[in-house]
Amino acid sequence: MTDSSIYNCNVFALPKIHNRAGNITALNNSVDLPFDTERVYYLYDIPGGELRGGHAHKELQQMIVAVSGSFDITLDDGQNKKTISLNRSYYGLHIVPGIWRELSNFSSGAICLVLASHKYDEDDYIRNYNEFLNYKSLLTCK
Ligand code: TYD
Repeated sequence: MTDSSIYNCNVFALPKIHNRAGNITALNNSVDLPFDTERVYYLYDIPGGELRGGHAHKELQQMIVAVSGSFDITLDDGQNKKTISLNRSYYGLHIVPGIWRELSNFSSGAICLVLASHKYDEDDYIRNYNEFLNYKSLLTCK
């Protein structure tokens, strides 16, 4: 498994095909992404002031893109935290497994596109922060 630290969660500059009439970003498995995508979903119509996330994943990797508008993502690996603002369609934040994340400060009309390495599986979620801290300390004891 990739080292499960916030320092392994990086912002990728995604390929942009520039055109006078508008741009295209195409994301190919194994070429433009650090994992193979099995699922795509997006968050939209997010009311002002709402928070999303508030959980970690055991195995899932994600690439998160602000395809429209902007929002902040706070990453927490149980020891360190960092907040990243996404506001361009050609930047993607790669989140490795074992990271607690919170999404906040959605601008009006923001769309959060998520490319995910696995299909939806509720068993892969850790939704309780204390459980997350226990899970992380068990991992480091191994
Ligand atoms: P969740 O991942 O907790 O949302 P967020 O992190 O954006 O706040 O998912 C919210 C609900 O949607 C939850 O009941 C599960 C459901 N869901 C699916 O059924 N399939 C999916 O692919 C996703 C991402 C969520």
